[in-house]
Amino acid sequence: MTIRSIALACGSYLPDHILTNAELAKKLNTSDDWIRKRTGIAQRHLAADGETTSDLALKAANQTLERAGLTGKDLDAIVVATATPDHTFPATATKVQAALGMTKGFALDVQAVCSGFVYALSVADNFIKSGQAKRVLVIGAETFSRILDWEDRTTCVLFGDGAGALLLEAQDQPGQSSDRGLLSTHLFSDGRHHDLLYVDGGPSKTQTVGHLRMEGKEVFRHAVKNLANAIDEALAANALSDQDVDWLVPHQANVRIVEAMAKKLNLPIEKAIVTIERHANTSAASIPLALNEAVEDGRIQPGQLLLLEAMGGGFTWGSALLRW
Ligand code: ACO
Repeated sequence: MTIRSIALACGSYLPDHILTNAELAKKLNTSDDWIRKRTGIAQRHLAADGETTSDLALKAANQTLERAGLTGKDLDAIVVATATPDHTFPATATKVQAALGMTKGFALDVQAVCSGFVYALSVADNFIKSGQAKRVLVIGAETFSRILDWEDRTTCVLFGDGAGALLLEAQDQPGQSSDRGLLSTHLFSDGRHHDLLYVDGGPSKTQTVGHLRMEGKEVFRHAVKNLANAIDEALAANALSDQDVDWLVPHQANVRIVEAMAKKLNLPIEKAIVTIERHANTSAASIPLALNEAVEDGRIQPGQLLLLEAMGGGFTWGSALLRW
């Protein structure tokens, strides 16, 4: 027998305010047609004034715990993936911890930008497998609207705000690939590509928050190559093939990247959970938002194999295989 991280429940939250491409095109030299054709995005949700990343995270956390029939007191750890924390410190996760009434255990943030949720899953999984925590709430939450240069049409049209959460629990089981839970996570980074996708501010460097800067074409090229490798490693490590994957639950950066990954897996695009049209790129929140949507609408069923993958600033990238 071995300890495995089992998914108990998931949840999500999107802010009420929706900004459509058409509305953006009134303020910026862009068009609904350009944004849709190049990215697949039609609209994005934006946090209200004063609504913070921890507010979004808390709503996703509460929904997840409610669905599992648990409270904050039942958790050993919270891992929040975010690149847009409420404050430089302390961790946004500790704000969520306090709001959930959780007074034991620990809470920390993970910073891997758009790969954050896969990284956070890996961190949580390793706490569970090492016996250091039994129940870990993993959250991806972002308010990217706060770090966008709203006059830069090459970046501001791409992102949105939101949060999603997944509750993991340690369970003893044989540990076969046919058993439920996280089969594996694979993480990668290559810091040489810092300047292709970064924020031009920070406490140490500029004492400002800064704005997101990206060489989109270059990021696209690396994403397709790196994600394909991460998928191959995940399948090989578990002696599985593309035929075994029921659902691709990808990071939502560009529908063309998702299509390329579905093609690589020989999956029809209907077998990829695609939310980018309505959510845009919500960075670390995009995978749990997509996961929650497909669980809620019944596409994802118990026992099915999910392949999660993401790539983001750093560069960071990774994959996870999860049997629901
Ligand atoms: N509206 C209209 N025209 C635009 C816009 C816009 N919003 N933005 C750029 N353009 C113009 C450009 O100026 C350029 O014009 P030019 O030919 O006259 O110079 C033209 O459109 C083409 O621009 P490209 O940048 O070459 O367009 P591309 O096809 O590469 O699409 C995009 C850009 C959508 C950003 C794409 O490269 C992409 O999706 N990249 C990957 C993003 C990604 O994966 N990010 C990873 C995660 S993000 C994270 O970690 C935070």
